[in-house]
Amino acid sequence: MTRAIIGWESEDPVPNRYYFNDYLNVRNGRLHFEDLDLAQIFLDGGGEEGLGQALRSPLEIVYLPIIRYRIAQMQRVFAEVIAEIGYNGRFHYTYASKANAAEEVIRTTLGAGAHHEMSSTIDVDIARHMIQLGLLTPDRMVICNGFKPAGSHYAQNIIRLRRDHEQVIPVIEDLSEIPPLLQSGYHFSVGLRQKSYGPNTTEAEMEAANSRFGLDLQAMWKAADYVAAAPNLSLKMYHYMVGSQLVDEATFLSYLRPGIELYARLRQRHPTLSIFNFGGGMPAPMTLNFEFDYHHFVRLLLTAFQQTCARYGVPEPDIMGEFGRYTTSEHGAHLFKIVLTKDNHSAKPWYIIDGSIMSSFPDSWALGEHFIVLPLNHLDKPFQQVQLGGITCDSDDVYPPKGSETPLYLPVETDDLYIGFFSIGAYQEMLGGVRGSKHCVLPEANELIVDRTNNGRYQFQLLPGQAPGDVLRNLGYHV
Ligand SMILES: Cc1ncc(COP(=O)(O)O)c(C=O)c1O
Repeated sequence: MTRAIIGWESEDPVPNRYYFNDYLNVRNGRLHFEDLDLAQIFLDGGGEEGLGQALRSPLEIVYLPIIRYRIAQMQRVFAEVIAEIGYNGRFHYTYASKANAAEEVIRTTLGAGAHHEMSSTIDVDIARHMIQLGLLTPDRMVICNGFKPAGSHYAQNIIRLRRDHEQVIPVIEDLSEIPPLLQSGYHFSVGLRQKSYGPNTTEAEMEAANSRFGLDLQAMWKAADYVAAAPNLSLKMYHYMVGSQLVDEATFLSYLRPGIELYARLRQRHPTLSIFNFGGGMPAPMTLNFEFDYHHFVRLLLTAFQQTCARYGVPEPDIMGEFGRYTTSEHGAHLFKIVLTKDNHSAKPWYIIDGSIMSSFPDSWALGEHFIVLPLNHLDKPFQQVQLGGITCDSDDVYPPKGSETPLYLPVETDDLYIGFFSIGAYQEMLGGVRGSKHCVLPEANELIVDRTNNGRYQFQLLPGQAPGDVLRNLGYHV
Protein backbone atom coordinates (compact mmCIF):
# COMPACT_ATOMS: atom_id res chain seq x y z
CA MET A 1 0.00 0.00 0.00
CA THR A 2 1.40 3.40 -0.98
CA ARG A 3 1.72 5.98 1.79
CA ALA A 4 -0.64 8.93 1.99
CA ILE A 5 0.37 12.30 0.54
CA ILE A 6 -1.23 14.96 2.69
CA GLY A 7 0.42 18.18 1.57
CA TRP A 8 3.37 19.86 -0.13
CA GLU A 9 6.39 17.54 0.02
CA SER A 10 9.35 19.85 -0.66
CA GLU A 11 11.42 22.57 0.99
CA ASP A 12 10.84 24.81 -2.03
CA PRO A 13 8.02 27.35 -2.14
CA VAL A 14 4.84 26.27 -3.95
CA PRO A 15 4.68 27.75 -7.48
CA ASN A 16 2.03 30.37 -8.15
CA ARG A 17 -1.17 28.95 -9.71
CA TYR A 18 -0.34 25.43 -8.45
CA TYR A 19 -3.35 23.11 -8.03
CA PHE A 20 -3.14 20.50 -5.24
CA ASN A 21 -6.40 18.96 -6.45
CA ASP A 22 -9.38 20.23 -8.42
CA TYR A 23 -10.31 22.91 -5.88
CA LEU A 24 -7.31 23.74 -3.63
CA ASN A 25 -4.99 26.13 -5.48
CA VAL A 26 -2.32 28.75 -4.79
CA ARG A 27 -2.50 32.39 -5.82
CA ASN A 28 0.14 34.90 -4.71
CA GLY A 29 1.34 32.76 -1.81
CA ARG A 30 -2.16 32.11 -0.45
CA LEU A 31 -4.32 28.99 -0.56
CA HIS A 32 -7.69 29.28 -2.27
CA PHE A 33 -10.68 26.93 -1.99
CA GLU A 34 -11.81 27.33 -5.61
CA ASP A 35 -11.85 31.18 -5.72
CA LEU A 36 -12.06 31.78 -1.99
CA ASP A 37 -8.88 33.21 -0.46
CA LEU A 38 -8.78 31.38 2.88
CA ALA A 39 -6.10 33.51 4.57
CA GLN A 40 -8.15 36.68 4.05
CA ILE A 41 -10.71 35.29 6.47
CA PHE A 42 -8.23 35.91 9.31
CA LEU A 43 -5.92 38.58 7.91
CA ASP A 44 -7.95 41.29 6.24
CA GLY A 45 -11.52 40.29 5.47
CA GLY A 46 -10.74 40.12 1.76
CA GLY A 47 -12.19 43.09 -0.18
CA GLU A 48 -15.16 42.78 -2.52
CA GLU A 49 -15.37 39.01 -2.90
CA GLY A 50 -14.50 38.44 0.74
CA LEU A 51 -16.21 38.46 4.08
CA GLY A 52 -15.74 42.11 4.82
CA GLN A 53 -14.44 41.34 8.32
CA ALA A 54 -11.53 39.40 9.75
CA LEU A 55 -12.46 36.42 11.95
CA ARG A 56 -10.64 34.69 14.77
CA SER A 57 -9.27 31.18 14.49
CA PRO A 58 -9.99 28.33 14.89
CA LEU A 59 -12.76 28.21 12.32
CA GLU A 60 -14.73 25.46 10.63
CA ILE A 61 -15.51 25.99 6.96
CA VAL A 62 -18.54 24.42 5.32
CA TYR A 63 -18.22 24.80 1.55
CA LEU A 64 -21.61 23.79 0.14
CA PRO A 65 -21.01 24.07 -3.65
CA ILE A 66 -18.69 21.06 -3.63
CA ILE A 67 -21.50 18.81 -2.34
CA ARG A 68 -23.50 19.73 -5.44
CA TYR A 69 -20.51 19.15 -7.74
CA ARG A 70 -19.89 15.67 -6.33
CA ILE A 71 -23.53 14.60 -6.61
CA ALA A 72 -23.70 15.90 -10.18
CA GLN A 73 -20.40 14.16 -11.00
CA MET A 74 -21.66 10.74 -9.85
CA GLN A 75 -25.00 11.20 -11.60
CA ARG A 76 -23.10 12.07 -14.79
CA VAL A 77 -20.85 9.00 -14.49
CA PHE A 78 -23.83 6.65 -14.13
CA ALA A 79 -25.74 8.37 -16.96
CA GLU A 80 -22.73 8.04 -19.27
CA VAL A 81 -22.15 4.35 -18.51
CA ILE A 82 -25.88 3.54 -18.76
CA ALA A 83 -25.89 5.13 -22.25
CA GLU A 84 -22.55 3.56 -23.29
CA ILE A 85 -23.47 -0.03 -22.51
CA GLY A 86 -27.24 0.22 -23.05
CA TYR A 87 -28.08 -0.65 -19.43
CA ASN A 88 -31.80 -1.13 -18.80
CA GLY A 89 -32.07 0.32 -15.32
CA ARG A 90 -31.78 3.72 -13.64
CA PHE A 91 -29.46 5.12 -11.00
CA HIS A 92 -30.68 6.54 -7.66
CA TYR A 93 -28.17 8.73 -5.79
CA THR A 94 -28.91 8.62 -2.08
CA TYR A 95 -27.20 10.60 0.67
CA ALA A 96 -26.27 8.65 3.81
CA SER A 97 -27.04 11.16 6.54
CA LYS A 98 -24.79 9.51 9.12
CA ALA A 99 -21.75 11.07 7.42
CA ASN A 100 -22.95 14.54 8.36
CA ALA A 101 -26.49 15.36 9.51
CA ALA A 102 -26.10 19.16 9.68
CA GLU A 103 -29.09 21.12 8.38
CA GLU A 104 -27.14 22.90 5.65
CA VAL A 105 -25.80 19.56 4.38
CA ILE A 106 -29.19 17.82 4.20
CA ARG A 107 -30.74 20.91 2.62
CA THR A 108 -27.99 20.88 -0.02
CA THR A 109 -28.13 17.16 -0.84
CA LEU A 110 -31.92 17.28 -1.20
CA GLY A 111 -31.64 20.44 -3.29
CA ALA A 112 -29.22 18.59 -5.56
CA GLY A 113 -31.77 15.83 -6.17
CA ALA A 114 -30.50 13.12 -3.79
CA HIS A 115 -32.72 10.55 -2.11
CA HIS A 116 -32.26 10.25 1.65
CA GLU A 117 -30.88 7.45 3.84
CA MET A 118 -31.10 7.36 7.61
CA SER A 119 -30.24 5.17 10.58
CA SER A 120 -31.94 6.46 13.75
CA THR A 121 -35.11 7.98 15.16
CA ILE A 122 -33.77 11.55 15.20
CA ASP A 123 -32.98 11.09 11.53
CA VAL A 124 -36.73 10.53 11.06
CA ASP A 125 -37.43 13.86 12.77
CA ILE A 126 -34.95 15.53 10.42
CA ALA A 127 -36.71 14.00 7.40
CA ARG A 128 -40.10 15.14 8.72
CA HIS A 129 -38.75 18.67 9.14
CA MET A 130 -37.44 18.63 5.58
CA ILE A 131 -40.84 17.41 4.30
CA GLN A 132 -42.54 20.29 6.12
CA LEU A 133 -40.13 22.76 4.51
CA GLY A 134 -40.93 21.29 1.08
CA LEU A 135 -37.32 20.19 0.59
CA LEU A 136 -37.92 16.45 0.85
CA THR A 137 -40.41 16.16 -1.98
CA PRO A 138 -42.85 13.25 -2.63
CA ASP A 139 -40.66 11.83 -5.42
CA ARG A 140 -37.74 11.14 -3.02
CA MET A 141 -37.13 7.76 -1.45
CA VAL A 142 -36.34 7.70 2.26
CA ILE A 143 -34.31 4.60 3.06
CA CYS A 144 -34.49 3.54 6.72
CA ASN A 145 -31.45 1.48 7.66
CA GLY A 146 -30.26 0.60 11.16
CA PHE A 147 -31.82 -1.56 13.87
CA LYS A 148 -35.53 -0.90 14.40
CA PRO A 149 -36.88 -3.61 16.72
CA ALA A 150 -40.58 -3.75 17.58
CA GLY A 151 -41.48 -1.15 20.18
CA SER A 152 -38.43 1.03 19.55
CA HIS A 153 -38.83 4.78 18.99
CA TYR A 154 -37.23 4.36 15.61
CA ALA A 155 -39.73 1.69 14.44
CA GLN A 156 -42.68 3.79 15.65
CA ASN A 157 -41.30 6.98 14.14
CA ILE A 158 -40.79 5.32 10.74
CA ILE A 159 -44.43 4.24 10.75
CA ARG A 160 -45.53 7.77 11.67
CA LEU A 161 -43.36 9.19 8.88
CA ARG A 162 -45.20 6.98 6.39
CA ARG A 163 -48.33 9.09 7.09
CA ASP A 164 -46.56 12.12 5.62
CA HIS A 165 -44.51 10.48 2.91
CA GLU A 166 -45.30 7.53 0.68
CA GLN A 167 -41.79 6.60 -0.38
CA VAL A 168 -40.51 5.46 3.01
CA ILE A 169 -38.56 2.23 2.53
CA PRO A 170 -37.59 0.36 5.71
CA VAL A 171 -34.66 -1.97 5.12
CA ILE A 172 -35.10 -5.12 7.22
CA GLU A 173 -32.01 -5.94 9.31
CA ASP A 174 -33.66 -8.69 11.31
CA LEU A 175 -36.82 -10.82 11.01
CA SER A 176 -38.22 -9.21 14.18
CA GLU A 177 -38.53 -5.89 12.31
CA ILE A 178 -41.30 -7.21 10.06
CA PRO A 179 -44.30 -7.52 12.49
CA PRO A 180 -44.55 -3.77 13.33
CA LEU A 181 -44.74 -3.02 9.61
CA LEU A 182 -47.34 -5.74 9.10
CA GLN A 183 -49.48 -4.30 11.89
CA SER A 184 -49.01 -0.66 10.89
CA GLY A 185 -52.01 -0.45 8.58
CA TYR A 186 -49.86 1.27 5.94
CA HIS A 187 -48.58 -0.06 2.69
CA PHE A 188 -44.77 -0.21 2.73
CA SER A 189 -42.27 -1.02 0.02
CA VAL A 190 -39.41 -2.68 1.88
CA GLY A 191 -35.80 -3.63 1.43
CA LEU A 192 -33.90 -6.63 2.78
CA ARG A 193 -30.35 -6.20 4.01
CA GLN A 194 -28.11 -9.16 3.33
CA LYS A 195 -25.43 -9.97 5.87
CA SER A 196 -22.45 -9.21 3.66
CA TYR A 197 -20.07 -6.80 5.36
CA GLY A 198 -16.38 -7.33 4.58
CA PRO A 199 -14.17 -8.84 1.91
CA ASN A 200 -16.28 -11.89 1.15
CA THR A 201 -16.12 -13.05 -2.42
CA THR A 202 -18.10 -16.28 -1.97
CA GLU A 203 -21.46 -17.04 -0.35
CA ALA A 204 -19.76 -19.35 2.14
CA GLU A 205 -17.43 -16.56 3.31
CA MET A 206 -20.34 -14.17 3.41
CA GLU A 207 -22.30 -16.52 5.68
CA ALA A 208 -19.32 -16.98 8.00
CA ALA A 209 -18.56 -13.26 8.34
CA ASN A 210 -18.57 -11.86 11.86
CA SER A 211 -21.10 -9.07 11.31
CA ARG A 212 -24.14 -7.93 13.26
CA PHE A 213 -25.70 -6.34 10.18
CA GLY A 214 -28.29 -7.88 7.92
CA LEU A 215 -29.95 -11.26 7.41
CA ASP A 216 -28.12 -14.51 6.81
CA LEU A 217 -29.17 -16.48 3.74
CA GLN A 218 -31.86 -18.55 5.39
CA ALA A 219 -33.39 -15.51 7.10
CA MET A 220 -33.21 -13.52 3.88
CA TRP A 221 -35.26 -16.07 1.89
CA LYS A 222 -37.70 -16.40 4.78
CA ALA A 223 -38.09 -12.61 5.07
CA ALA A 224 -38.70 -12.33 1.32
CA ASP A 225 -41.49 -14.92 1.53
CA TYR A 226 -43.09 -13.22 4.59
CA VAL A 227 -43.05 -9.89 2.80
CA ALA A 228 -44.49 -11.40 -0.39
CA ALA A 229 -47.32 -13.00 1.60
CA ALA A 230 -48.17 -9.82 3.51
CA PRO A 231 -51.10 -7.84 2.09
CA ASN A 232 -49.54 -4.46 2.90
CA LEU A 233 -45.85 -5.07 2.12
CA SER A 234 -43.98 -5.41 -1.14
CA LEU A 235 -40.37 -6.28 -1.68
CA LYS A 236 -38.64 -3.52 -3.64
CA MET A 237 -34.98 -3.40 -2.65
CA TYR A 238 -32.08 -5.73 -1.99
CA HIS A 239 -29.37 -4.12 0.16
CA TYR A 240 -25.85 -5.44 -0.05
CA MET A 241 -23.19 -3.26 1.55
CA VAL A 242 -19.61 -4.48 1.73
CA GLY A 243 -17.59 -1.76 3.44
CA SER A 244 -16.30 1.78 3.49
CA GLN A 245 -13.68 3.70 1.44
CA LEU A 246 -13.00 0.80 -0.95
CA VAL A 247 -10.23 2.24 -3.09
CA ASP A 248 -9.72 -0.42 -5.75
CA GLU A 249 -12.36 -0.76 -8.47
CA ALA A 250 -11.93 -4.50 -9.16
CA THR A 251 -11.76 -5.38 -5.46
CA PHE A 252 -14.92 -3.39 -4.73
CA LEU A 253 -16.72 -5.29 -7.50
CA SER A 254 -15.36 -8.67 -6.36
CA TYR A 255 -16.84 -8.07 -2.88
CA LEU A 256 -20.21 -7.22 -4.48
CA ARG A 257 -20.35 -10.26 -6.77
CA PRO A 258 -22.14 -12.69 -4.41
CA GLY A 259 -24.81 -10.01 -3.91
CA ILE A 260 -25.28 -9.53 -7.63
CA GLU A 261 -25.84 -13.24 -8.02
CA LEU A 262 -28.23 -13.36 -5.07
CA TYR A 263 -30.16 -10.37 -6.37
CA ALA A 264 -30.83 -12.22 -9.63
CA ARG A 265 -31.97 -15.36 -7.79
CA LEU A 266 -34.23 -13.38 -5.50
CA ARG A 267 -35.66 -11.48 -8.49
CA GLN A 268 -36.58 -14.79 -10.16
CA ARG A 269 -38.75 -15.64 -7.17
CA HIS A 270 -40.02 -12.13 -6.34
CA PRO A 271 -40.84 -10.04 -9.43
CA THR A 272 -41.65 -6.91 -7.36
CA LEU A 273 -37.93 -6.51 -6.65
CA SER A 274 -36.44 -3.69 -8.72
CA ILE A 275 -33.55 -1.98 -6.86
CA PHE A 276 -30.10 -3.24 -5.94
CA ASN A 277 -28.63 -1.00 -3.23
CA PHE A 278 -24.88 -1.34 -2.66
CA GLY A 279 -25.02 0.96 0.36
CA GLY A 280 -21.86 2.92 1.19
CA GLY A 281 -18.25 2.28 0.34
CA MET A 282 -17.77 4.66 -2.57
CA PRO A 283 -14.37 6.19 -1.81
CA ALA A 284 -13.63 9.91 -1.54
CA PRO A 285 -10.34 11.77 -1.86
CA MET A 286 -9.11 12.42 1.69
CA THR A 287 -5.46 12.70 0.63
CA LEU A 288 -3.70 14.16 -2.41
CA ASN A 289 -2.65 10.85 -4.02
CA PHE A 290 -6.15 9.37 -4.05
CA GLU A 291 -6.88 7.48 -7.25
CA PHE A 292 -10.17 5.83 -8.05
CA ASP A 293 -11.75 5.68 -11.47
CA TYR A 294 -15.48 6.07 -10.78
CA HIS A 295 -16.33 5.55 -14.44
CA HIS A 296 -14.38 2.29 -14.54
CA PHE A 297 -16.03 1.03 -11.35
CA VAL A 298 -19.55 1.85 -12.57
CA ARG A 299 -18.81 0.15 -15.90
CA LEU A 300 -17.64 -2.99 -14.05
CA LEU A 301 -20.73 -2.95 -11.83
CA LEU A 302 -23.33 -2.43 -14.54
CA THR A 303 -21.69 -4.90 -16.91
CA ALA A 304 -21.68 -7.52 -14.15
CA PHE A 305 -25.41 -6.92 -13.67
CA GLN A 306 -26.09 -7.14 -17.41
CA GLN A 307 -24.29 -10.49 -17.63
CA THR A 308 -25.73 -11.98 -14.46
CA CYS A 309 -29.31 -10.89 -15.15
CA ALA A 310 -29.08 -12.27 -18.70
CA ARG A 311 -27.91 -15.59 -17.25
CA TYR A 312 -30.88 -15.76 -14.88
CA GLY A 313 -33.37 -14.32 -17.36
CA VAL A 314 -34.38 -11.40 -15.12
CA PRO A 315 -34.50 -7.65 -15.85
CA GLU A 316 -31.53 -5.48 -14.85
CA PRO A 317 -32.24 -3.61 -11.62
CA ASP A 318 -32.11 0.07 -10.84
CA ILE A 319 -28.93 0.74 -8.88
CA MET A 320 -28.82 2.72 -5.66
CA GLY A 321 -25.79 3.82 -3.66
CA GLU A 322 -25.89 5.47 -0.23
CA PHE A 323 -23.08 7.99 -0.52
CA GLY A 324 -21.85 9.29 2.82
CA ARG A 325 -18.15 10.03 2.68
CA TYR A 326 -18.20 10.66 -1.06
CA THR A 327 -20.90 13.35 -0.67
CA THR A 328 -19.53 15.28 2.29
CA SER A 329 -15.87 14.57 2.83
CA GLU A 330 -14.56 17.48 0.80
CA HIS A 331 -17.00 20.21 1.83
CA GLY A 332 -15.50 20.46 5.34
CA ALA A 333 -12.27 22.17 6.37
CA HIS A 334 -10.99 23.19 9.77
CA LEU A 335 -8.64 26.17 9.97
CA PHE A 336 -6.17 26.89 12.77
CA LYS A 337 -3.41 29.36 13.65
CA ILE A 338 0.10 28.26 14.56
CA VAL A 339 0.35 29.83 17.99
CA LEU A 340 3.75 28.48 19.02
CA THR A 341 6.75 26.72 17.52
CA LYS A 342 9.03 24.64 19.67
CA ASP A 343 12.13 22.61 18.89
CA ASN A 344 12.41 20.71 22.20
CA HIS A 345 15.32 18.62 20.81
CA SER A 346 12.77 16.68 18.78
CA ALA A 347 13.53 15.19 15.38
CA LYS A 348 11.27 17.77 13.75
CA PRO A 349 10.10 21.11 15.14
CA TRP A 350 6.69 21.22 16.78
CA TYR A 351 4.08 23.60 15.40
CA ILE A 352 1.31 24.04 17.95
CA ILE A 353 -2.20 24.90 16.72
CA ASP A 354 -4.97 26.72 18.60
CA GLY A 355 -7.27 23.69 18.75
CA SER A 356 -7.35 19.94 19.18
CA ILE A 357 -6.50 17.42 16.47
CA MET A 358 -7.81 14.54 18.58
CA SER A 359 -11.27 15.84 19.21
CA SER A 360 -11.66 17.59 15.83
CA PHE A 361 -10.58 14.56 13.77
CA PRO A 362 -11.15 11.44 15.87
CA ASP A 363 -10.42 9.15 12.90
CA SER A 364 -6.88 10.47 12.76
CA TRP A 365 -6.18 9.79 16.41
CA ALA A 366 -8.14 6.53 16.74
CA LEU A 367 -7.68 4.91 13.32
CA GLY A 368 -4.48 6.53 12.02
CA GLU A 369 -6.51 8.14 9.21
CA HIS A 370 -4.82 10.87 7.10
CA PHE A 371 -6.34 14.13 5.92
CA ILE A 372 -4.92 16.91 3.74
CA VAL A 373 -3.04 19.65 5.64
CA LEU A 374 -1.89 22.84 3.91
CA PRO A 375 -0.81 26.33 4.96
CA LEU A 376 -3.20 29.15 4.08
CA ASN A 377 -0.45 31.75 3.66
CA HIS A 378 3.36 31.92 3.19
CA LEU A 379 3.11 29.30 0.43
CA ASP A 380 5.62 31.39 -1.58
CA LYS A 381 8.29 30.90 1.13
CA PRO A 382 10.56 27.91 1.95
CA PHE A 383 9.08 24.87 3.73
CA GLN A 384 10.45 22.44 6.32
CA GLN A 385 9.34 19.12 7.78
CA VAL A 386 7.42 19.59 11.01
CA GLN A 387 5.03 17.87 13.37
CA LEU A 388 1.77 19.38 14.49
CA GLY A 389 0.65 19.40 18.08
CA GLY A 390 -2.79 20.28 19.45
CA ILE A 391 -3.22 22.76 22.27
CA THR A 392 -4.47 20.04 24.65
CA CYS A 393 -2.02 18.47 27.06
CA ASP A 394 -2.56 15.00 25.60
CA SER A 395 0.45 13.22 24.08
CA ASP A 396 -1.81 11.68 21.40
CA ASP A 397 -2.93 15.08 20.12
CA VAL A 398 -0.46 15.10 17.22
CA TYR A 399 -0.38 14.97 13.43
CA PRO A 400 0.62 13.10 11.28
CA PRO A 401 -0.87 10.28 13.33
CA LYS A 402 1.52 8.20 15.44
CA GLY A 403 3.26 5.50 13.39
CA SER A 404 2.62 7.33 10.11
CA GLU A 405 5.41 7.41 7.49
CA THR A 406 3.94 10.45 5.79
CA PRO A 407 5.97 13.64 6.10
CA LEU A 408 4.31 16.98 6.77
CA TYR A 409 5.92 20.14 5.36
CA LEU A 410 4.86 23.63 6.40
CA PRO A 411 6.43 27.08 5.82
CA VAL A 412 9.51 27.99 7.87
CA GLU A 413 7.99 31.45 8.32
CA THR A 414 5.49 31.16 11.18
CA ASP A 415 4.55 34.80 11.70
CA ASP A 416 0.75 34.87 11.46
CA LEU A 417 0.82 31.40 9.87
CA TYR A 418 -2.58 29.73 9.40
CA ILE A 419 -3.14 26.14 8.30
CA GLY A 420 -6.13 24.06 7.24
CA PHE A 421 -7.14 20.43 7.58
CA PHE A 422 -9.14 19.51 4.46
CA SER A 423 -11.50 16.72 3.45
CA ILE A 424 -12.73 16.32 7.03
CA GLY A 425 -16.45 16.91 6.29
CA ALA A 426 -17.61 13.30 6.61
CA TYR A 427 -17.94 11.65 10.04
CA GLN A 428 -15.34 13.80 11.88
CA GLU A 429 -17.82 16.32 13.24
CA MET A 430 -20.42 13.64 13.96
CA LEU A 431 -17.90 11.52 15.87
CA GLY A 432 -16.33 14.48 17.69
CA GLY A 433 -19.79 15.81 18.58
CA VAL A 434 -21.30 19.22 17.99
CA ARG A 435 -21.39 21.70 20.89
CA GLY A 436 -20.60 19.16 23.57
CA SER A 437 -17.87 19.66 26.12
CA LYS A 438 -14.64 18.40 24.69
CA HIS A 439 -11.24 17.17 25.78
CA CYS A 440 -9.35 19.76 27.86
CA VAL A 441 -12.59 21.83 27.85
CA LEU A 442 -11.82 23.51 24.53
CA PRO A 443 -14.86 25.38 23.19
CA GLU A 444 -16.44 24.65 19.83
CA ALA A 445 -15.05 26.84 17.03
CA ASN A 446 -17.08 29.32 14.97
CA GLU A 447 -18.41 27.93 11.72
CA LEU A 448 -18.51 29.73 8.38
CA ILE A 449 -20.98 28.40 5.84
CA VAL A 450 -19.93 29.34 2.32
CA ASP A 451 -22.16 29.13 -0.73
CA ARG A 452 -22.38 30.75 -4.14
CA THR A 453 -25.32 32.73 -5.46
CA ASN A 454 -26.73 31.95 -8.92
CA ASN A 455 -24.35 34.49 -10.44
CA GLY A 456 -21.37 32.81 -8.80
CA ARG A 457 -20.70 35.35 -6.03
CA TYR A 458 -19.80 34.05 -2.60
CA GLN A 459 -22.27 34.38 0.25
CA PHE A 460 -21.43 33.69 3.88
CA GLN A 461 -23.25 32.73 7.05
CA LEU A 462 -21.37 32.78 10.34
CA LEU A 463 -22.54 30.46 13.12
CA PRO A 464 -21.02 31.40 16.46
CA GLY A 465 -19.19 28.67 18.36
CA GLN A 466 -19.21 28.23 22.11
CA ALA A 467 -18.40 30.96 24.60
CA PRO A 468 -16.60 29.86 27.81
CA GLY A 469 -19.90 30.17 29.73
CA ASP A 470 -21.56 27.68 27.32
CA VAL A 471 -18.91 25.07 28.06
CA LEU A 472 -19.15 25.65 31.81
CA ARG A 473 -22.95 25.45 31.89
CA ASN A 474 -22.82 22.30 29.80
CA LEU A 475 -20.69 20.73 32.53
CA GLY A 476 -23.11 21.70 35.27
CA TYR A 477 -21.47 24.91 36.54
CA HIS A 478 -24.11 27.52 37.39
CA VAL A 479 -22.33 30.53 35.95
C1 LIG B 1 -26.04 1.30 5.78
C2 LIG B 1 -25.00 2.31 5.41
N1 LIG B 1 -25.17 2.99 4.26
C3 LIG B 1 -24.26 3.93 3.87
C4 LIG B 1 -23.16 4.22 4.64
C5 LIG B 1 -22.21 5.29 4.18
O1 LIG B 1 -20.98 4.77 3.83
P1 LIG B 1 -19.88 5.67 3.13
O2 LIG B 1 -19.60 6.80 4.04
O3 LIG B 1 -18.73 4.75 2.93
O4 LIG B 1 -20.47 6.15 1.84
C6 LIG B 1 -22.94 3.51 5.84
C7 LIG B 1 -21.75 3.78 6.66
O5 LIG B 1 -21.47 3.21 7.68
C8 LIG B 1 -23.89 2.53 6.22
O6 LIG B 1 -23.75 1.84 7.37
